[in-house]
Amino acid sequence: MLMNRRPRRNRQNEVIRNMVQETTLSLHDFIFPLFIIDGQNQRVPIHSMPGISRFSIDTLLEEIGACIDLGLKAFAPFPGMPEQLKDKYATESHNPDNLFARAIREVKKNFPDVVLVTDVAMDPYSSDGHDGIVENGEILNDETLEVLGKMALTQAQAGADIVAPSDMMDGRVGHIRRVLDENGFQKVAIMSYTAKYAGAFYGPFRDALDSAPKMGDKKTYQMNPANSREALIEAELDTAEGADYLMVKPALAYLDIIKLLRENSHLPIAAYNVSGEYAMVKAAAERGWIDGEKAMLETLISIKRAGADVILSYFAKEYAQYLKK
Ligand code: PBG
Repeated sequence: MLMNRRPRRNRQNEVIRNMVQETTLSLHDFIFPLFIIDGQNQRVPIHSMPGISRFSIDTLLEEIGACIDLGLKAFAPFPGMPEQLKDKYATESHNPDNLFARAIREVKKNFPDVVLVTDVAMDPYSSDGHDGIVENGEILNDETLEVLGKMALTQAQAGADIVAPSDMMDGRVGHIRRVLDENGFQKVAIMSYTAKYAGAFYGPFRDALDSAPKMGDKKTYQMNPANSREALIEAELDTAEGADYLMVKPALAYLDIIKLLRENSHLPIAAYNVSGEYAMVKAAAERGWIDGEKAMLETLISIKRAGADVILSYFAKEYAQYLKK
């Protein structure tokens, strides 16, 4: 048959397919989230996240060493705090000797070249399990900024390279930038969780850190999944306030938002392939319902294709292992 256009000509063998491939993944794109707990010689698996564990500082160093050998160089640690260290004001979050600060110092001492992206939010340290100070059932914005500024400074002093506010309070990027600059941390960057949606995909993470809200939900600060223009408002503000990266979270149900920010910003766009997204792939793969490795690769490339420059993913290590085989 005569046919001028036959798109299949460009798919006919692997060499040609590789040649015309538009998007590629690289280990350089990844930040690997890691969970830290107190104690020694701990590697406590997280049930709802097969393959992911909580580490004490000593085993965390082993894990990071193993990841470095696989080619990963950027990590996003999250601390799990015992209930007795939590309070209404997340006071422990800016104790310079808290678990998180100790972990950051140890990692940077042992591996000076790794990049640490540290989470700035009250929830792991809050007895209310919220990202802000709760008063009469309300989340206080400006009072919370004070805590976030102190927390970010504590992390910078411990050696964080990039602080990542995930709380969604108004004005936090500007406040944190000012606090960092006033204290001589001009080089510490801010990766803002710009468009962070209130949804169901954070469940396994909250199990891992025991950080679920004790009452209510996060809908007065995290975004409504139905909105996309609002993501542009957040992006404009974060940019004006001094963010160095804009993040979209979750990633898979929000690929359109990743693309929207990519097309409307000159800043690097990060995407967080969150715990629930990881758990879905793992759970289906364990049942033999999907091919876990192929689903991982397709997930990651789709996030890149949508426009993400940087991907935070629990798959990072598995992807690095896949590349080694
Ligand atoms: C804390 C924070 C959360 C995640 C990252 N930082 C939980 C939340 O907002 O409730 C979730 C990450 C994941 O699910 O993988 N503010």
